[in-house]
Amino acid sequence: MQLRIGVWDGAVMFDLRSKTAVVTGGGRGIGRGIARALAQAGADVVVSGRSLPPLEDAVKELEAIGVRALMVPADITSRADLDALVAAALAFGGGSIEVWVNNAGSASSSDVGPLIDMTEAQWDAVVDTNLKWTFFAAQAAARVMARGGSIINISSRSGSQPNPMTGQYGAAKAGVENLTATMAVEWGHRGIRVNAVAPGVVLTETHAAGAGSMSSPARRRRQVETIPLQRLGTVDDIGPLCVYLASDEASWTTGSVIQVTGGSRIPVGLLSYLHRVAPQEEGTA
Ligand SMILES: NC(=O)c1ccc[n+]([C@@H]2O[C@H](COP(=O)([O-])OP(=O)(O)OC[C@H]3O[C@@H](n4cnc5c(N)ncnc54)[C@H](OP(=O)(O)O)[C@@H]3O)[C@@H](O)[C@H]2O)c1
Repeated sequence: MQLRIGVWDGAVMFDLRSKTAVVTGGGRGIGRGIARALAQAGADVVVSGRSLPPLEDAVKELEAIGVRALMVPADITSRADLDALVAAALAFGGGSIEVWVNNAGSASSSDVGPLIDMTEAQWDAVVDTNLKWTFFAAQAAARVMARGGSIINISSRSGSQPNPMTGQYGAAKAGVENLTATMAVEWGHRGIRVNAVAPGVVLTETHAAGAGSMSSPARRRRQVETIPLQRLGTVDDIGPLCVYLASDEASWTTGSVIQVTGGSRIPVGLLSYLHRVAPQEEGTA
């Protein structure tokens, strides 16, 4: 891996070499892909998450690209951890943070189920991580972006469509998208841009390890059939858009929710529901 700064007509574009970026959940999955892309564009990168090994691995990879990297173990749902992450990133960035990517999130298998049976614990687990603490992390970042900056919230296609079997996840992501619009309005005068990226189905290490909604080959096949570009996403499909949103070339882009889905317009959540309720009829359980 190496720095890959874009050059157009003699001018360097999407150049993040003067910026410090924080990626929550940056050790693995989509966050790792985002951290890699930001580093390839020249940003110094802070990766955060709860488990150490992926963070250690990420720092090695980012440093090999040629940038400075720092890992900060933190649970984003803890106020103390969040404050410590901001303080460590500020020190690392020489007193400023220019880019903050709220990527930490998802729903664990124990939180999956129809709304009719949903418990308060299942609701809180998903909504706290994906909405409440995504907001407070954005707020914490905005408070220290004294010279402006770019906040990127990782939403999901689930945020703008029915999401059977993880309705609370879709509601949380819808909340993130709505807050993205409000934060963009309230913080624009501070020079802070706030945008959201809404991926479609992206295969991560979680799926490769046989967990998650895409662990069954039959489910993956049916999802691909809904995608005009005829493949599921990879973790490296999301980072390039984040590089753009982080860069000065996006200086007039805020309050946007941009979908990266391979062109799929068919509700993924509906398919998931059908996978769940009709597996025996299709013989693919
Ligand atoms: N994969 C998809 O198909 C897809 C589609 C649309 C949107 N998304 C969104 O993209 C983002 C990343 O998803 P992913 O698929 O890459 O998930 P993943 O592979 O499960 O990775 C999640 C990342 O978030 C971190 N994380 C989770 N809870 C955390 C917490 N409380 N505090 C700190 N870090 C936490 C994890 O690190 P630790 O476990 O070490 O803490 C991990 O690095 C999420 O916001 C998800 O909703 C994913």
